[in-house]
Amino acid sequence: MPALVLLGAQWGDEGKGKATDLLGGSVDYVVRYQGGNNAGHTVVVGDQKYALHLLPSGILSPGCTPVIGNGVVVDPSVLLSELSGLNERGVDTSKLLVSGNAHIITPYNVTVDKVTERFLGKRKIGTTGRGIGPTYADKINRVGIRVQDLYDESILTQKVEAALDVKNQMLTKLYNRRAIAVGQVVEELLGYAEQIRPYVADTVLVLNQALDDDKVVLFEGGQGTLLDIDHGTYPFVTSSNPTAGGACTGAGVGPTRISRVIGILKAYTTRVGAGPFPTELFDDDGEALRRIGGERGVTTGRDRRCGWFDAVIARYATRVNGLTDFFLTKLDVLTGWEQIPVCVAYEIDGRRVEELPYSQTDFHHAKPVYEMLPGWSEDISKAKSFSDLPKNAQAYVKALEEMSGAPISAIGVGPGRDETIEINSFL
Ligand code: GDP
Ligand code: IMO
Ligand code: MG
Repeated sequence: MPALVLLGAQWGDEGKGKATDLLGGSVDYVVRYQGGNNAGHTVVVGDQKYALHLLPSGILSPGCTPVIGNGVVVDPSVLLSELSGLNERGVDTSKLLVSGNAHIITPYNVTVDKVTERFLGKRKIGTTGRGIGPTYADKINRVGIRVQDLYDESILTQKVEAALDVKNQMLTKLYNRRAIAVGQVVEELLGYAEQIRPYVADTVLVLNQALDDDKVVLFEGGQGTLLDIDHGTYPFVTSSNPTAGGACTGAGVGPTRISRVIGILKAYTTRVGAGPFPTELFDDDGEALRRIGGERGVTTGRDRRCGWFDAVIARYATRVNGLTDFFLTKLDVLTGWEQIPVCVAYEIDGRRVEELPYSQTDFHHAKPVYEMLPGWSEDISKAKSFSDLPKNAQAYVKALEEMSGAPISAIGVGPGRDETIEINSFL
């Protein structure tokens, strides 16, 4: 039965949390497969607003089992505080499952994230400072700590020793920081162990059995396609694979299980942190998109960089993810512009280029080639069907669909669950 992947088609913050929550009522499992609490997913239910960082957005749907897969990096203190924050608001979190193979973000990973960014100076990535990159680096270097290690003190101590061996040399000799004591880290991590134990499970087995039993599983990506470590604007990326293939490795399901891949696509573009962004605006239009769209980071509170829609990026997202559908979000934010520029291609050193260049140098030189589409002034936030939209808004959506290479199956016209136009059913 169906496994669906829902992921960001741009540089993150496309509205994945809202889209996941919308589907959460009709699926049995919602699974995070990569990233960690660098994510900030906003869900608005009635007059309640939730900001989720590590927990899957399905946690707000009572019938749904939320799962943190093996590919996620888990900061135990964030996990526990996010759970207790939801419990205080009356949300039942008891169904949560956490993979025993997920890696732990330790306090020293957070320290290393911050000092390396500081050391990079003006070449910094602009990370969220949550220890994401260093934790994935430890995983790849085979000195990572996994959730299951919390339940064997002797193994945990040996692993923390191994991880700190080189790091303490680096911290003291290169970065001029104090060494981190093994015992202190072990004690802190053991302090979380029993609180997390009830959630720890063999999530690979659980999810594959669920699929065998015809249950519906939704994989919720963090970040976005252009932040992917392999397919994004490297090195200005995150350290995991938000793209569709990441769902397979990050949750332990085979690609043959996945029937639908939904790309969440904002009707314009935003980016947080450093790196190239061809359609970025530095004028009043950019400021207006930021203000009307409320484009401020959910995790770090940084202003998001804003720009017009980039069809080259959308086409690229279709290709690298094998997208079957788009969910276009925040169309309402564009209400009021007389004309809306859409980037249809790039000009790179005098050449017109239709597809995303593989070369970093070329991408840094890419200038947007715009086509102007007529805008609309009517309030669209109450629209329930495609035909409720003004003609020019319909034409804008159809033009984006044509350029982007996959059908637009839903349109967001406001942050609330109901503020969505459903065109094709996802299930
Ligand atoms: P995510 O990281 O992809 O989940 O996205 P964020 O939550 O970081 O940012 C998306 C923001 O847009 C949140 O504040 C959402 O509540 C809001 N949002 C989502 N969809 C829509 C929409 O269709 N219209 C409007 N106006 N806001 C939306
Ligand atoms: P959601 O899931 C937008 C960006 C950071 C930085 C780069 C690397 O809410 O869409 P990291 O801390 O991951 O090592 O930072 O990635 N970034 C995001 N940008 N939305 C996110 O998550 C992001 N998660 C990380 O700003 O540029
Ligand atoms: Mg976000």
